[in-house]
Amino acid sequence: MSYERENIAKMAGYVPGEQPEDADVVKLNTNENPYPPPRAVMQALAGVTADQLRRYPNPTARKFREAAAKVHGVKPDEIIAVNGGDELLRLVVSTFVDPHQVVGYADPSYSLYPVLAAAQDAKVFRIPLDDDWHLPADYVEQLNRVGAKLAFVVNPHAPSGRLTPVNDLRRIAEGFAAGVLVIDEAYVDFVDPARKHDAVQLVRDGLDNVILLRSLSKGYSLAGLRFGYGIGSAKLIKPMLTKTKDSYNTDAISQALAVAAVTHKDQAAETWAAVREQRDRLCGELRGMGLEVAESQSNFILVTISGRSLDAQKTYEELKRRKILVRYFSVDPRLADKLRITVGSTVENDVLLRAIKELV
Ligand SMILES: Cc1ncc(COP(=O)(O)O)c(C=O)c1O
Repeated sequence: MSYERENIAKMAGYVPGEQPEDADVVKLNTNENPYPPPRAVMQALAGVTADQLRRYPNPTARKFREAAAKVHGVKPDEIIAVNGGDELLRLVVSTFVDPHQVVGYADPSYSLYPVLAAAQDAKVFRIPLDDDWHLPADYVEQLNRVGAKLAFVVNPHAPSGRLTPVNDLRRIAEGFAAGVLVIDEAYVDFVDPARKHDAVQLVRDGLDNVILLRSLSKGYSLAGLRFGYGIGSAKLIKPMLTKTKDSYNTDAISQALAVAAVTHKDQAAETWAAVREQRDRLCGELRGMGLEVAESQSNFILVTISGRSLDAQKTYEELKRRKILVRYFSVDPRLADKLRITVGSTVENDVLLRAIKELV
């Protein structure tokens, strides 16, 4: 006899990227930042006291919410701190979607979205992206037609890295009045500053159905810490903050380190510039080898391997044999001839480029 709820018994779980123990692997498969966290974060870690551990943390990460609010020009009650951006995704689904209601998202995108919807016993509605990974022009109409209660847009898009302009997002938010629009900005720190991309403006402008997801995992080199946050109208943040999140969802150490991180954004931004430089280099060299690389504003690139002696899957396997890990999405037909490669350090990218040159 199974004790699971029926939908849980039926669903499949999220499959995380490989996390090898082996230190000499060139790890370009889960989009970690190749550079260390901000110096201020390591100093805050050294300053953690026994008392901070003995006592419960602030339940809503008040100091972090104040610090993040200042950085983004919003109010602290428009911020929620979470145990990694993934927790925010779980919270939005469990707070705003009833079982059997519809969660919409562009396909392909982050494979956790349908898993969280399935756990809530919600229905999913996949809206295919066009061949160039753009959202279709009738994205909102499609969401409204099926009566979606919540929709995800990951921006920059994963796994292509394509950036949707804020005005397009604004049109989606305005047209999707009956639902909550989650803009997943896990990779937004790597967007070229010349683009002047700032989706927080939607919240500042009072669009009350928008929640932005931010993560310290990639931009701040803190994937091991598990800390992220949401930015949205107080109307959306409050039920998650006061009802659906765990009472102490973020711990004392991560709160202290997260405050140090966001108040020293300039230190993290040094790594964003370095990643962008390496991204341009990788794209240039791979295109120079005749490979197609999608235009990316993220810290990863999507490379098409076709018409070669080795296909994408074999290239992935050969790279792995050489202790270079990249991501291959075997189950999605649109991604079957592609590899998603995290932008690494100069040395890691040297190793990768040399191997790819030999293989393809
Ligand atoms: C598109 C996307 N959104 C959200 C997340 C969540 O990141 P985290 O839970 O590490 O903050 C990830 C992590 O890989 C991601 O790829």
